[in-house]
Amino acid sequence: MIADALEKAYRRYADKRPNSATRNALARAVLPSGTTRSVLDFDPFPFTVASASGCRLTDVDGHEYLDYLGDYSVGLAGHNPGAVRAAVTRVLDQGWSFGAVAEAEYDVARMLCDRFESMDLVRFTSSGTEANLVATSLAIKSSGRNKVLVFDGGYHGGFLSFSRDGSSLNVPFDVAICEYNSLESAQAAFDAWPGQIACVLVEPMLGSGGRIQGTPSFLGGLRELCDQHGSVLIFDEVQTSRMAYGGAQSLYGIRPDLTTLGKYIGGGFGFGAVGGTGDLMLQLARGREPHFDHSGTFNNNRFTMAAGVAMLGSVLTRENLAALFERGEGLRKRADDLLRACGFQATGWGSLIGIHPTDVPITRAADLAGADRRPVQLLFHELLDRGVYIGKGGFVTLSLPQTPETDDLFLTALEDSLRVVQAAVPVPARTAS
Ligand SMILES: Cc1ncc(COP(=O)(O)O)c(C=O)c1O
Repeated sequence: MIADALEKAYRRYADKRPNSATRNALARAVLPSGTTRSVLDFDPFPFTVASASGCRLTDVDGHEYLDYLGDYSVGLAGHNPGAVRAAVTRVLDQGWSFGAVAEAEYDVARMLCDRFESMDLVRFTSSGTEANLVATSLAIKSSGRNKVLVFDGGYHGGFLSFSRDGSSLNVPFDVAICEYNSLESAQAAFDAWPGQIACVLVEPMLGSGGRIQGTPSFLGGLRELCDQHGSVLIFDEVQTSRMAYGGAQSLYGIRPDLTTLGKYIGGGFGFGAVGGTGDLMLQLARGREPHFDHSGTFNNNRFTMAAGVAMLGSVLTRENLAALFERGEGLRKRADDLLRACGFQATGWGSLIGIHPTDVPITRAADLAGADRRPVQLLFHELLDRGVYIGKGGFVTLSLPQTPETDDLFLTALEDSLRVVQAAVPVPARTAS
């Protein structure tokens, strides 16, 4: 029944989008499956966006969507935010790609070190993936140890993805994959590899792995284990830094040795950063012993840095981040009520929400492993048909231009969509599978 319902939804979707279908057919000749980001590829083909503004997207067939994907968190400020637009326009006047130092990189670094208590020094990269590669490599090189402790479901970028399906093009780090939210599992790894663990790389909330929040005892326990064993604790806050002015770490009261950042801080331009304690970070300084070079053509990209100053200076304020967090908490609870009535549930924290087609308690990636995700695919298509865009895997990400009114529109579309899904896959059938 679910297969028939999906087939019908795909046909309806394709019939309404002839221009996107043509674009996708052309793209398939030069891009594997017609896209260049696996996460944006869905059946029968992704729609092509023509323009965007605020929290709305318009595709090449003229359909408008309420954007509740928020570019997987990059779009925190929405589309074309005025402050970023003004900053980038100034760069257009002044020039870019200097191949030399410019002013804004200091400004962004200063603002980050001011808001993240654990950051004495910071270095920029072009992406969150790169930031995690720098942080992990720095821990390995400076400690002379090889082992990297990570968690099942952890996603730290295209080359650092630790889902157990093994589908990622990972870099060949020597990793030990432990259970998320299980301190016992991490303790067992420290016991198994005494003196060999260079670092623990962890997200305060599994983001792509299901939007599953880390418990304070788990994250605090990791801090203690790292202290006991002389290992570097790396918090990947590429997603969770949006939870508060000082990041998730300020809410947990935990000081990681290194923190990685990315996504929205660059206002929609490629951004990444690694920051942390002086003793670790100074190894990137010329003339130090030991010393490691760290280069990257776009590390001080003029557009990114100008956008970063605008974002940190006037968009990512204490007040805006707190309000976004509160609105997310409220929306998740309201969505969860609707979802649970149909055998689904909402996970998440603050402005990041995950929709899952199961009602079992979810504290780790393994809790999601057996679930049939097709009901989420159908829900995704039903929402699209009602003009609401979320992540194909059920991710909902809030942005600043959304309002209580758009939240109501989202919830109405969700309720209507769930009715269709419920008819195709009644809860008892789903629970049994
Ligand atoms: C927690 C986390 N870390 C790292 C990354 C990688 O960032 P980027 O896509 O900028 O390389 C992501 C991207 O989704 C992420 O969610």
